[in-house]
Amino acid sequence: MDFSFTEEQLMIQEAARDFAQREIVPIAAEFDISGKFPEETLRKAGELGFMGVEVPEEYGGSALDAVGFALMMEEIAAADAAHSTIISVHNSLYCNGILQYGTEEQKQKYVTPVASGEVFAAYALTEPQSGSDAANMRTRAVRDGDHYVINGKKSWITSGPVARYILLFAMTDPAAGPKGVSAFMIDTEKDGFHRGKIEPKLGIRASATCEIELADYRCPVEDRIANEGDGFKIAMSILDAGRIGIAAQAVGIARAAYEASLQYVRERHAFGTPIGSFQMIQAKVADMKMRLEAARLLTLKAAWNKKVAAAAGLRNTTESSCAKLFASEAAMFITHAAVQIHGGMGYSKEMPIERYFRDAKITEIYEGTSEIQRMVIARQETGLR
Ligand code: CAA
Repeated sequence: MDFSFTEEQLMIQEAARDFAQREIVPIAAEFDISGKFPEETLRKAGELGFMGVEVPEEYGGSALDAVGFALMMEEIAAADAAHSTIISVHNSLYCNGILQYGTEEQKQKYVTPVASGEVFAAYALTEPQSGSDAANMRTRAVRDGDHYVINGKKSWITSGPVARYILLFAMTDPAAGPKGVSAFMIDTEKDGFHRGKIEPKLGIRASATCEIELADYRCPVEDRIANEGDGFKIAMSILDAGRIGIAAQAVGIARAAYEASLQYVRERHAFGTPIGSFQMIQAKVADMKMRLEAARLLTLKAAWNKKVAAAAGLRNTTESSCAKLFASEAAMFITHAAVQIHGGMGYSKEMPIERYFRDAKITEIYEGTSEIQRMVIARQETGLR
């Protein structure tokens, strides 16, 4: 077994680390407080190829693999989770899905400007009444000649307030349940598309999220992705890739909290000695380090396996869900311990520790809650429902 990275993977890791530390770290606290969308840094991230890491060069991407994507995500998330959420959705939920299931024309039109960071994009599955039970959607697409007329609401849409294009799922045949879902490309500049208010959130505050509404939106038939009825499987297989991104994000947040804690336990003195000499602190450091290492290994294994599984015609579902579940819970454990180690300073906005703690929580919720990941893994392992 070889744990070393390729030259290309090392290059994107280094480029992402350099960019994140230089451009994102200095502004992260300010954007967390204001909740402003960090458009300028994201445009620069696009220029550096971070918006389409796995996208082939002919569609404006960096032509790397999922390991390169995970390494880039860890670096961005270690600087700021909000930036990494936006970047993750661009790469894995949006570009990845269209590349896998779209036609040549759809890739040219909808991937190229997004992979280069020229425009922003989103993925719309969740609805006000259906989060975990994703197939229970009410958004309806009705065929009308060479168009579909789409009506309905989607909620919690990452980058919804700024997206030009959205990959959206709607029911074409409600009686067929999951087999009645189809996927469509939405151009937010067309009539019938409306955005709701920006959601105020506990963490990842600079990642703009809103509800969107389609009211008699006319989608040309050529903007449907794959066949009618393929939508649910497309949405789920895209999430298999997306969950690797969230796992890598959790590793990045956890690493930032761990590294800050290591420095603090060496520098902070109590009772005449660095607090890192106390066994109760040492136990915390060891438990944090063990979880961080395990989370990173599971994440990179899932990323590495993406290509292997695809080549064998298999799903990467279990690997992705294990990585996302473990890494997100590790991030909560590690950021919680980091606040405790820092004491009052961990609770203060003078340091980024409380932000890491708030940001980590979302990784246990979006792209499938921890409860859903456990259900997915158990169903895959047992073959039972
Ligand atoms: N790949 C391919 N096909 C899949 C699949 C996968 N990973 N998972 C399921 N399918 C297929 C099944 O095989 C089945 O097809 P067949 O009947 O032909 O076998 C079909 O899809 C239906 O599957 P299920 O019967 O398992 O469907 P279900 O209704 O029981 O739901 C679920 C399954 C796992 C609970 C799913 O609804 C789920 O993952 N829920 C969580 C949704 C989620 O993650 N939402 C996140 C929103 S996106 C977000 O957060 C983005 C953001 O902004 C950051």
